[in-house]
Amino acid sequence: MKELRRQRVFDLLKGKDESLVNGEVNVKGWVRTKRGNKNVAFIALNDGSIIHNIQVVVEVQSFGNDEMLKKITTGACISVNGKLVESKGSGQNVEILAHEIELYGTADAETYPLQKKGHSLEFLREIAHLRPRTNTFGAIFRIRHALAFAIHKYYNDKGFYYLHTPIITGSDAEGAGAMFRVTTLDLHNVPTTPEGKIDFQQDFFGKETNLTVSGQLEGELGALALSNIYTFGPTFRAENSNTTRHLAEFWMIEPEMAFYDINDNQDLAEDFLKYLIGYVLENCADDLEFLQKMYDKELIERLQFVTSNTFERLSYTAAIEILEKSGEKFEFPVKWGVDLQSEHERYLVEKHFKKPVILTDYPRDIKAFYMKQNDDGKTVRAMDVLFPKIGEIIGGSQREENYDKLVSRIKEMGIPEKDVWWYLETRKFGTAPHSGFGLGFERLMLFITGMGNIRDVIPFPRAPLNAEF
Ligand code: 4AD
Ligand code: MG
Repeated sequence: MKELRRQRVFDLLKGKDESLVNGEVNVKGWVRTKRGNKNVAFIALNDGSIIHNIQVVVEVQSFGNDEMLKKITTGACISVNGKLVESKGSGQNVEILAHEIELYGTADAETYPLQKKGHSLEFLREIAHLRPRTNTFGAIFRIRHALAFAIHKYYNDKGFYYLHTPIITGSDAEGAGAMFRVTTLDLHNVPTTPEGKIDFQQDFFGKETNLTVSGQLEGELGALALSNIYTFGPTFRAENSNTTRHLAEFWMIEPEMAFYDINDNQDLAEDFLKYLIGYVLENCADDLEFLQKMYDKELIERLQFVTSNTFERLSYTAAIEILEKSGEKFEFPVKWGVDLQSEHERYLVEKHFKKPVILTDYPRDIKAFYMKQNDDGKTVRAMDVLFPKIGEIIGGSQREENYDKLVSRIKEMGIPEKDVWWYLETRKFGTAPHSGFGLGFERLMLFITGMGNIRDVIPFPRAPLNAEF
C-alpha cells in the first residue's frame, strides 16, 4: 500500500482542510456496516474521532480482490487509500473512492458481539471491553473527555492550582463512607500483636491505610497556602449500594478556597456547573444530538434551561417545611433532622421549584465534623446542590476554622485527635475562613448525557461484584 498520512474522520467530515478534496487520502478505522451489490460496496467506517461514519465506496469489478472484500464485515479494522470526493448521496459531504485497502483485523460475523445494532445497555455493560465501539459509548466517552478538559480550563483560567492529593491515605477521618483497605500483609498468615490484634506496624506503611474517600482534608492544607486549589481524581467508597447513582470508584472535583464564605462557595458552584454544561453544549453538539435522539428527547432543552436560570437557594429548614406541606407521600417520611433522600431532593427540584436548588445550613448531626458551626448550636454551614433527575450533585461547606470548636466537635464524634493532628494544626497556625465542595464527576456526566445508570458514564465501572474489566 502507498504510504499516506492518516486523516481523522472528524477532520474529513468537518472539512478541516479543503485542499484534500479530490486528492488521495488515507483513513483507518472499524467497519460499522458494509452493504452493496456485485458492482459496488459501501463501507461505513468509524475511527472514534466523531459520531459520524465516513462512507468508503468500492467499485467491486475494478478493485478486484474479492477474497479480501468478503472478509470486510462489521467490526473489522481496515486502512483505506482513496480519492476524497464530494458525496452524491445524502447525509454526508464527502466520501472516499477506495483504491487500496489493507485489512488489519477481521471480526468473525458469527461471534462478534456487536454484529447487530440495538443491543441493550445492560448487555453492553457485560462487554465493557467492546462497548466503546458503539455510537452511544463513543459519544459518552468523547463528552467525558471534553468535560474533564473543561474542568481544568475553568480553574486554570480562574487562577486555581491543581493539587494532587493522595489516593492511599493513612487517615479515615472524613467519614464520607466505608473504605477499601490497602495492605501488603499476607492474608493467609496475618501477623498479630501479643494482644491478638492485627499488627499493622508490619504492614507496608507501618500503619493502617485505605483508599481515599475524598481529597478534601489534604485539599484544605493546600488552600491554606495557595489560596485557591482544586483536586480532580478518583475516590473510593466501599458501601454496598447497588443504585443507579453510586459507584465504588468515582471521580470527584474538589475546589477549596481560602477566604470564601458559604455564599462565595455557592456562587462558585453555580458558575462552575453552568460553565461545564455550556462548554459541552458548545463543543459536543453532534454527540449530544445523538444521545437526545436515542435516549432523551428533552436533553438539550434541559441543559440549556440549567445554564440560563438562577439556582434556587434556601436553607434545609425551609426545605423541610416545603416538604412537610407538600402533601406528597414519601417512602421516607420527612421531619426536621432527617437526612434528605433522593425522593425529597427530586421533589424540591422537579416539582416544587422546577430548577436546580442549593440547600444550606443542615442539622449538624447528619453532617461531617469539619463543617462550620452556626451560632444556633444546631446547624452547620453545609451546602448541597440538587439537580433534576439526579438529586445531590455537589456536597460542600464552609469549614470550621476555629481550633477550639473543631476540637470539641471531633471529641463529640469520637474521632481520635492523633488521626487528625496535622489537620488541626492548620487551625493553630494562621487559620483562615475557607470553603469548598465536591462535585461528583459521574453524577454530572449522568445529567449531561441523559443516561439513566451511572455505570454507563464511566468506561470501566466499579460496583459491588463488578470488577471484571
Ligand atoms: O457529599 P460528598 O460525600 O462530599 C465529600 O466527599 C466532601 N469531602 C466534598 C468536599 O466538600 N470537598 O460527595 C461529594 C459528591 C456528591 O455530591 C456526589 O455527587 C458524589 O460526590 N458522590 C458519588 N458519586 C458516585 N458514587 C458515589 N458512591 C458517590 N458518593 C458521592
Ligand atoms: Mg453529600
